[in-house]
Amino acid sequence: MELVLNRQEVCAWLSCESEEKIRGDLMYLGQHVQLNTKGMAVHLRGLVEVSNRCRRQCAYCGLRAANGALERYALSDEEILACAQRIAERRWGTIVLQGGEDGASSAERVARLVKTIKERHDLAVTLSLGERPIEDYALWRQAGADRYLLRFETSDEALFQRIHPPAAGSNLPSRLHILRELRLMGYEVGSGFLVGLPGQSLRSLADDLLLAQSLELDMVGIGPYIAHPDTPLSRGLDAQGEPLPLLSASDSEYVPSSGPRQEQLVYICLALLRLLLPQANLPATTALATVNKDQGLLRGLQCGANVIMPNVTPYDKRLLYAIYPGKDIVDETPLQKEMALQEQLKSVGRFISYDRGNARS
Ligand code: 5AD
Repeated sequence: MELVLNRQEVCAWLSCESEEKIRGDLMYLGQHVQLNTKGMAVHLRGLVEVSNRCRRQCAYCGLRAANGALERYALSDEEILACAQRIAERRWGTIVLQGGEDGASSAERVARLVKTIKERHDLAVTLSLGERPIEDYALWRQAGADRYLLRFETSDEALFQRIHPPAAGSNLPSRLHILRELRLMGYEVGSGFLVGLPGQSLRSLADDLLLAQSLELDMVGIGPYIAHPDTPLSRGLDAQGEPLPLLSASDSEYVPSSGPRQEQLVYICLALLRLLLPQANLPATTALATVNKDQGLLRGLQCGANVIMPNVTPYDKRLLYAIYPGKDIVDETPLQKEMALQEQLKSVGRFISYDRGNARS
C-alpha cells in the first residue's frame, strides 16, 4: 500500500492542531495502513544499556562526557550475556545492545559478544553504539549482527552543528554516509530524530520525516526532546557554549520543547511515518512514555507504531543511563513486564508477536 505525500501535505499535517482532525483523519489513516501492512502485532525488543560512558559532548544528552555529575558504568560480558539469556527465555526475538561511545569497549569485544549471543540463542542482534570506524561495523556484521541503529537526530545541518560540537569527521553528511554503508553491508538500518529540539522549525521537522523516507529506513525511532538539567541545551546554550537564538514561546513556526503540543507532534510524526514508510518498524519509545506515563506507549501504537523496547538492563544501572530525566524505572522481571504489556495491548486490540519482526518479512 503506497500513499504519496508531498512536502506541502506533510507540512500541513504538522501545522494542524485540531485534535479531532488528527485523531479522526490522520491517525485513522495511520492505523489503516498499519493494519494492511504490518497487522496488529507488536514486537518486543529487549533493550540492554551496556554502558553510559561516552566520549561525545552532544549538547542535549545527559551522558555527554563533560557531565561530571553522572556515575559511570559498563556492564561486564557476563552481565550482558545474562540479559541475552533472559530475553531468549521470554522469546522476544531481538536483543538491542545500546550504549554511549565508550572508547574502552573494543570492536573485537563487541564482535565476540555478538558471536556468543548468536551461538547460544535464536535472537536477532541490534547494535546501537554510535559512530565508529566503518571497519567496526563490518566486523560486527561478520560476527552476526543483524541491525544497527544510529539516529541522524535532525536533518537541519545548521541545527545539527549547533547541538554537536565539531568532532573530526563527524557531521550530518558523515552520519548519513554511515547509514548508507550499513545498508550496503546488509544490516537492517534504523535511524530517527528528536522532536522539539530548541530551534527546530516545523519545516525542518517535515524534512526529518522526508529524509527518513528517502533513506528507506527499516526502523525509525523518534521521541520528544526532554531537557536534561546537566546539559548546555537546557541552559539555553549550544554545543559551543553560545546562547541559542531566543524564540517566542508562542511562535507557531517552531516545535515546542515541552508540553502537550510537543507530544501531539510526536504522534503526528508517527502517523506520518507509517504513511511514508509503510513497511518500517516504528517503536513507541521510552521518551514518549516519559512525557506521558499513562498513555504515551499506547497512543504511539495507535498512530502506527508496532515495536516496544522493554528495558532489561540490571535495575541498579538503569538509573545511571540518564540520557534525559524522568525515565520511569520499575523493578520488574521481563516476565512481569510482558504480562503487564499484554494486558495493556489487549485493551487497544493489539497483541505481542514472538517472531523477530524483520522490517521486510
Ligand atoms: N531527550 C530525548 N532524547 C534524547 N536522546 C539523547 N538525549 C535526549 C534528550 N535529552 C536520544 C537521542 C539518541 C538516543 C539514544 O536518545 O536521539 O540518539
